[in-house]
Amino acid sequence: MDRTTTGAAVTAQVSPAAAGRADRATTGAPAPKTTADAGARGDPDPLRTAAARVLHTNWTGASTVPSRGLYPHQWSWDSAFIAIGLRHLSPLRAQVELETLLRAQWADGRVPHIVFNPSVPLDAYFPSPDFWRSATAGRAAGAPGGVQTSGIVQPPVHALAAWLVHLADPGLSRARSFLARVHPRLAAWHRFLLHRRDLGGAGLAAVVHPWEQGMDNSPCWDVPLSRVPPARPRTFRRADLDHGCPRDRPTDLDYGRYVRLATDYRDRGYGAADRGPHEHRGDFAVEDPAFNALLIASEHALARITGELGVAATARHERAERLTRVLVERLWDPASGIFRCRDLRAGPAEGAPVAERGITGLVPLLLPGLPGDVVAALVRTACGPHFELGGRTRLVPSHDLLSPAFDARRYWRGPAWINTNWLFERGLRLHGERARADALRTALLDVASASGFSEYVDPYTGRGFGTRGFSWSAALALDLHLDADHASAHHTAGSCGSERARHD
Ligand code: SER
Repeated sequence: MDRTTTGAAVTAQVSPAAAGRADRATTGAPAPKTTADAGARGDPDPLRTAAARVLHTNWTGASTVPSRGLYPHQWSWDSAFIAIGLRHLSPLRAQVELETLLRAQWADGRVPHIVFNPSVPLDAYFPSPDFWRSATAGRAAGAPGGVQTSGIVQPPVHALAAWLVHLADPGLSRARSFLARVHPRLAAWHRFLLHRRDLGGAGLAAVVHPWEQGMDNSPCWDVPLSRVPPARPRTFRRADLDHGCPRDRPTDLDYGRYVRLATDYRDRGYGAADRGPHEHRGDFAVEDPAFNALLIASEHALARITGELGVAATARHERAERLTRVLVERLWDPASGIFRCRDLRAGPAEGAPVAERGITGLVPLLLPGLPGDVVAALVRTACGPHFELGGRTRLVPSHDLLSPAFDARRYWRGPAWINTNWLFERGLRLHGERARADALRTALLDVASASGFSEYVDPYTGRGFGTRGFSWSAALALDLHLDADHASAHHTAGSCGSERARHD
């Protein structure tokens, strides 16, 4: 696969084939398909075996697909979460996972949300490379020539992942100059978000498509999306319904709106000409709490990376702390004890908060610099009637249980996801909520393995929906299972270990 790009090169010093060999040596193959199968064979660590099997099956030689059928290419935030789990099986492969993604970075700094595998047929996934046309429509924005990608982004979990991957094997990381090679890419990625995507002018990054935020059909988008005229149904064919049950997936109306937004953005050259905060002309622009919290957590991680490379990290930590203050000033809603999305296209120039309560509003708990009253309120909200953590739900649902829009099985409209629960568990542990963190960790491991590492689950019963053998579900369960940090009393999410001294 040709991964040549414009901009500075990220050159893997170990070939993907060698990484594959390293993986087979580490995980062993063949392995049983499920945790129960592995247990029945007398395997001393059936969860590890079953999760490793998923990650082995979904490895393509240079990266990991989220799932073989539904998502047959490389996805950006999936790869970051996958690398966090992979580091326990093969630190080398985890490094290669991130390097492969970053080699597809655009010259303007954006990391595309999909890196297409040219050997996968065009009709296997929609929107396919001939929809995005990155090499032509993205030329002015600096899309790479040797690889086809989408033109939108996903949440910036990558610096956080890179730092955790480094910590898994610092010797290998230093020997391969892993951090030195990924650091310029990660810094350019954050610059893109903090400057080109500061559409509201307050300093936070905005998303211009629900797929960028990652929680595609969250009810938080219902009002902002209602202004988007849908693409005509017969102008595209959904490939997701070849693999997923329509009852579990976004509706055709939502899909029509996703297609319209992506088409409009593509036809404006992916915003290559946009400069100031108010130049983006798309119908959808939202400041999202989880997206920005992950950016801030990654800023803390980038500060650690900078420090490891021998450069002063104070300015980055200060920026992360400043951004945390802006996040609270701009998106915190003290009356309801949750962070709200800000719809920049609603009303006057400042936009307006979105009324729906989503899991996105709880994710900022992972930030170390939150005021104590915000931390306490977030924990109360998660454990209260809207999310019922520690009550009737086994995992934190993706949406408010009391909202009329709640749906326990439809994609991001209510089911629980492993990644958001993994993030919330880190937040609980960071802020000293040890008993709640331990309980959530236990539930998460039970549900992930019993559901065959489903893409998402019913938050009450743990019944799996979407695709099975989903890579980030396996990877993050593995991380919770094997990472000693998750079982310790003190632990920092933004800094991932190295900031621990501040909290101990
Ligand atoms: N998550 C979206 C999908 O379902 C877009 O990346 O394909």
